[in-house]
Amino acid sequence: ILKEWLTVMQKYYHYVEWRPMDQPTSYAGELGPKHWPISRYEYVMKLKQAALNFARKHWADYILYADTDNILTNPETLNLMIAENKSVIAPMLDSQGAYSNFWCGITPQGYYRRTAEYFPTRNRNKLGCFPVPMVHSTMLLDLRKEDMKKLAFFPPHKDYSWPYDDIIVFAFSCRAAGSSMYLCNKERYGYLNVPPKPHQTLEDDRLNFVHLHLESMSKVYGPPMSPSRHVHMFPKQRDLMGFDEIFLINLQRRPDRRDRMLYSLNELEIDVKVVPAVDGNALNSSDIKILGVDLLPGYHDPFSGRTLTKGEVGCFLSHFFIWKEIVDVQMDKALIFEDDIRFQANFKRRVLRLMEEVEQAELDWDIIYLGRKKVILGEEEPVEHVHNLVWADYSFWTLSYAISLQGAQKLLNAEPLSKMLPVDEFLPIMYDKHPNEDYKSHFLNRNLQAFSTRPLLVEPSKYAGDPEWVSDTETSTLWDDDSVRTDWRGSHKMLKGSSPPEMLSSGYRDEL
Ligand SMILES: *[C@@H]1O[C@H](CO)[C@@H](O)[C@H](O)[C@H]1NC(C)=O
Ligand SMILES: *[C@@H]1O[C@H](CO)[C@@H](O)[C@H](O)[C@H]1NC(C)=O
Repeated sequence: ILKEWLTVMQKYYHYVEWRPMDQPTSYAGELGPKHWPISRYEYVMKLKQAALNFARKHWADYILYADTDNILTNPETLNLMIAENKSVIAPMLDSQGAYSNFWCGITPQGYYRRTAEYFPTRNRNKLGCFPVPMVHSTMLLDLRKEDMKKLAFFPPHKDYSWPYDDIIVFAFSCRAAGSSMYLCNKERYGYLNVPPKPHQTLEDDRLNFVHLHLESMSKVYGPPMSPSRHVHMFPKQRDLMGFDEIFLINLQRRPDRRDRMLYSLNELEIDVKVVPAVDGNALNSSDIKILGVDLLPGYHDPFSGRTLTKGEVGCFLSHFFIWKEIVDVQMDKALIFEDDIRFQANFKRRVLRLMEEVEQAELDWDIIYLGRKKVILGEEEPVEHVHNLVWADYSFWTLSYAISLQGAQKLLNAEPLSKMLPVDEFLPIMYDKHPNEDYKSHFLNRNLQAFSTRPLLVEPSKYAGDPEWVSDTETSTLWDDDSVRTDWRGSHKMLKGSSPPEMLSSGYRDEL
């Protein structure tokens, strides 16, 4: 990856020292790939020391260390760290848990110590640049400072008696030189991967990193990262997770969303078929009539009071044509994704496990929401013999759902085009959980078997209220009037009660 990137980017640097090494692949005394014997720590210390010697020899003002599994998303990070004018400073990195690249306390023996300052700092309850006993992974050293001359990663200080670990050796070296390490959390700078726990495998570690990587590309928690244009996408082994087809609905004028989704799905090793969404804004009212679309009598948006928008008509038709394809081709089951979603950790494993249990339990299902907005407070009834699945109550959104042949057939049988309302209101009518009796009275067989995963496996990638949020269903003209442009940017469903969930999802609790 680096080599390919350098072919284009090298010219922007004064000088690049490229030292790829295939060796060593293991270390003396190693019990397995996750085990760090002293020989391995020493190897890393020597590498870091070699970099430091190199920088000094070339009279560098600064040296920035960054581990390979650190993802810096804030392009200003280097300037911001330099502006703090410290000897050793680290940008605080976020992870899938409490873990980060600093300690607030250290024991007299050089081990980690939990202190009261850790969580307020890690959770950004207090912002600033703080002296701490330890920073690691990504850090900037100002080599012009007087105290820098004594710092070393290797060999350890002559008085060193603490654990033989590169980060602790360096923290001790700073302390012995009388210089403080600083941690800065004024902004969001990026992410780092949580080291695997003893019970976790290398595969778990890899999946965690894939998830972190995808999170760093979303805008929910700060500046997004996008893959470099100078590195090609390595196609992974992808599959359909047991579905006959997986559809990705994408508006052709939103190639940015398509590209992010295709990149994410490739990383997740999931195959999809991109279906161009029906662009509601390109339909005029006569096109809409020719398709046989008519509004459900009396339909009004529950929040704004308006009727259907063209964006909503386009969205409905996009889903409708997929249901039709499922029935035409007699697919057993399919999965549908809209193009503005974020995946939860371990998405693929969780879907595979869910569908396996659904099959084993011989559940009679028509649709299973993987992403939606639950409208009504209160618990939904869990499904027996299937973990993390509930009977769906009234819901909004159609971010992602599995659908069976029988389910698609029921939706088509309802002939919904001639009495259209937004597709995410149509589904709850069909499983008889919509609160509006008038709407329901137009549909006779409301026997869709609808379920939802709990917790949800996908979330919207952006939330209404974010400055960049634009929904194609909420911002468009009224369905039957080409002259009135309506703009419901940030209106009802996306906004009401929806705020980003807590940073990622994971069971990690400890900060070490
Ligand atoms: C940076 O810090 C040094 C002390 O280490 C100080 O002498 C110098 O004036 C500072 N520079 C700026 C621009 O604040
Ligand atoms: C609507 O668009 C179609 C082409 O998509 C065009 O043939 C037709 O004349 C348009 N009708 C109106 C009323 O503008």
